[in-house]
Amino acid sequence: MTTPEASSPAPNSSPRVLTLGHPVLRQVAQPVDSVRDEFVQQLIDQLLTTVRTANGVGIAAPQLGYSLRILVIASRPNLRYPHAPLMEPTVLINPQLVAASDELELSWEGCLSVPGVRGQVPRHQTVEVDYCDRHGQLHRQIWQGFVARIFQHEADHLEGKVFLDRVQSEADLLSEEAYQAMAIAALG
Ligand code: NI
Repeated sequence: MTTPEASSPAPNSSPRVLTLGHPVLRQVAQPVDSVRDEFVQQLIDQLLTTVRTANGVGIAAPQLGYSLRILVIASRPNLRYPHAPLMEPTVLINPQLVAASDELELSWEGCLSVPGVRGQVPRHQTVEVDYCDRHGQLHRQIWQGFVARIFQHEADHLEGKVFLDRVQSEADLLSEEAYQAMAIAALG
């Protein structure tokens, strides 16, 4: 569901990332009918710009206030994730999880919509995903490790979930400050 003024995003505006408490983050997002729609293409451009400028490694359309099944995986080393693998930003429209490994990995996540908090979250080590790209081409892709984690985190946003919902214990939550101190200490 989108608001009327939300139906025509200005391509050069710098959108605000919604934070936890905004109801759109808790909605199940709607499939995209028309990938070539100008509105959809502008929204994709906004997602790509925002994930880069906000030092994210992924973002989903609901985080900009649009309850649509679009997400971006854009792993690269940055201030918030210094050890992230470098990849071309990938736009996934109407993604479907086809298969996932039984093996789960527990590791740290943050979220542009949950500023200041990190949490340890169990995720499948490997995922196989069908999706449509921004040109309407269908793809089937396998991702592992950190990139598979990004996919699962962003796909949760399309179901109205955030990573906090998957944290197993309060002891697995840290402030951003404490997380960064721990990460630096771990590097020795
Ligand atoms: Ni997130």
